[in-house]
Amino acid sequence: MQASAPEQTQLNLFGPKFKADPYPTYAYMRENAPVYGRTNRVGVTTWYITRYNDVSAILRDNQRFVKDFRNTLTPEERAALPSMPPLLHLLSDHMLNMDEPDHTRLRSLVNRAFTARMVEQLAGRVQAIADELLDKVTDAGSMDLIDDFAFPLPIIVIAEMLGIPPEDRDRFRRWSHALVTPTANVERTLRKLEKSRRSMEDFIGYLGSVIDQRRRAPQDDLITSLIQVEEAGDRLSEEELFSMLLLLIVVGHETSVNLIGNGMLALLEHPGAMDQLRANPTLTPLAVEELIRYANPVERAPMRFVAETAVLHGQTLVRGDSVSLVLAAANRDPAQFECADELDITRDPNRHLGFGLGIHYCLGAPLGRLEGRIAVNTLLARLPGLRLDAPASELRWHTHPIMRGLRRLPVTWEPNV
Ligand code: HEM
Repeated sequence: MQASAPEQTQLNLFGPKFKADPYPTYAYMRENAPVYGRTNRVGVTTWYITRYNDVSAILRDNQRFVKDFRNTLTPEERAALPSMPPLLHLLSDHMLNMDEPDHTRLRSLVNRAFTARMVEQLAGRVQAIADELLDKVTDAGSMDLIDDFAFPLPIIVIAEMLGIPPEDRDRFRRWSHALVTPTANVERTLRKLEKSRRSMEDFIGYLGSVIDQRRRAPQDDLITSLIQVEEAGDRLSEEELFSMLLLLIVVGHETSVNLIGNGMLALLEHPGAMDQLRANPTLTPLAVEELIRYANPVERAPMRFVAETAVLHGQTLVRGDSVSLVLAAANRDPAQFECADELDITRDPNRHLGFGLGIHYCLGAPLGRLEGRIAVNTLLARLPGLRLDAPASELRWHTHPIMRGLRRLPVTWEPNV
């Protein structure tokens, strides 16, 4: 059955109940409504795309599906747009929301600062941070894996990478927690921003002072590299530098929290796979790829917009419509993956779309992988008998429209073994 009009089948795609297990709904959509439209109260249609081949084709098609809504408009429509509040401008005018050629320029500048070498050098520190976090809880025999481990690990890593002094780390953590991810829902973003405006302004003031210090006395850190990075005489402007830092803090944090949290939940629910990995840690790189595919830290790619009216599986996507690429559905598509709903930590090859594809392919993939591998390895090696400390059905999920992540993950283990 093909869903012939957006209004005909009202699927629940949000809310706590949906978030607890979205996969049966996504399986239904892949089969029956692979291009599923939903029109909101103000007449904006969002198309949810669920098949692997369609999602990967659109991720690569950055001409017809753009990130910056303004690139879907005629010059007259653009001129009539209201101006954006400066704070929202800083938070949303970054490369993840840009198209060529602006995106290409920013990405090549940041690529030069965010090198694979820099990430490799972090391995020792990431391991030390993981160990320090576990030192605090091992004797207790139980913890909230999110609050005590998955949340602090990546925030400490990104703070150190940027060069935030250790004494400011707590403030930095509070601020970055309060940062909102600008989504397609501008209204909600603005409401949230209004509430946290004061704290955001303090944060921006703080980052400004760190940038000034680094200009005067360069250090071996990412903020200094971003200040100094230069290509063909081109540099990041002050505003671009702020937006880039805010982007790295937001996308570099929650994604990794969810990789560790969702990934560990998947292993806890599959004790056989957990034992196999504990007995053979060389499987960790493959296992982490599979955890990304199976447990989907980023459930849906941030919104794209239709730049040229297109027809897909009988549905007409009109210029200006929003497109939500459901990575979690594509990653469980049986047309691409054998036994797609099963966790197989030896799956190879594993061409999941968890880090996206095309020009916006995740800049932080090497860092995310490194954090995921060290986190999983360390938890399994140091916490014997690790198991869930609450029924899986009682776990609560964030209702974020893009991310998929747990609020808490209570676990227990044998402390004295
Ligand atoms: C650990 C798990 C992670 C996952 C699953 C993940 C996933 C993704 C995905 C799906 C995209 C593409 C979005 C799109 O096409 O609309 C993306 C982009 C991006 N990610 Fe990640 N990410 C992770 C970690 C990180 C980390 C640790 C950082 C940086 C510190 C990072 C920085 C970025 C940036 C800057 C972009 C935008 C790239 C661009 O627009 O060119 N990510 N990520």
